[in-house]
Amino acid sequence: MLEIEICRAGQGDYHSLCQFIELVDKEFYPPLSLRGDGIEQRVRKCLLGQYSYYLLAKNTTDIENDDASKILGVIGCNKYWKKEKDAYINIMCVHPLYRKKGISRILFQKLEYDLINQDIKKLYVCTWSTNTAAMSFYESNGFIPYCVVKDDRNHGVDTIHYRKTFHL
Ligand SMILES: CC(C)(COP(=O)(O)OP(=O)(O)OC[C@H]1O[C@@H](n2cnc3c(N)ncnc32)[C@H](O)[C@@H]1OP(=O)(O)O)[C@@H](O)C(=O)NCCC(=O)NCCS
Repeated sequence: MLEIEICRAGQGDYHSLCQFIELVDKEFYPPLSLRGDGIEQRVRKCLLGQYSYYLLAKNTTDIENDDASKILGVIGCNKYWKKEKDAYINIMCVHPLYRKKGISRILFQKLEYDLINQDIKKLYVCTWSTNTAAMSFYESNGFIPYCVVKDDRNHGVDTIHYRKTFHL
């Protein structure tokens, strides 16, 4: 049986997180390696950013596993995005061999729990209109689409912006 632990990403995860993101890079539209300053800079910011909060799902089933193959998924956000009590999810992905097993759901539930405890009231995310897995994920986890930017990623590929308000 698959055993996983959810933990906050730390500086010691730098190399394994870079390798993990390289593995899934081309599934993003556009690839993460072509956005901003590339993967290494993204990972550096995610681990060191003052307002960044990243969680990893690690495989604890096989203790012989090397570090990189231990990461099964990541979710992360920047807090205080538009306003003091907002956060913006800037990555969510799961290892291709471990999808549809509920790993994103677990990561998201923990992120949500932690953010609520840090007094965050609104969570934002966006995806692209051909990403049916992500759209279905966000919509089944309480996100509401509030803006569609037509042809933003390419001809026929829109950006969909979502938000979720925590009502306590
Ligand atoms: C989107 C992604 C993170 C989902 O991760 P996952 O661990 O496989 O998702 P889960 O097993 O937790 O599924 C939770 C829900 O997401 C949706 N979902 C996940 N995969 C799906 C798929 N292939 N097709 C449709 N819906 C899907 C479903 O609503 C699912 O609920 P259900 O199991 O009750 O149907 C994963 O497919 C991924 O890493 N994709 C590539 C990177 C990416 O696109 N990230 C999002 C960028 S905005």
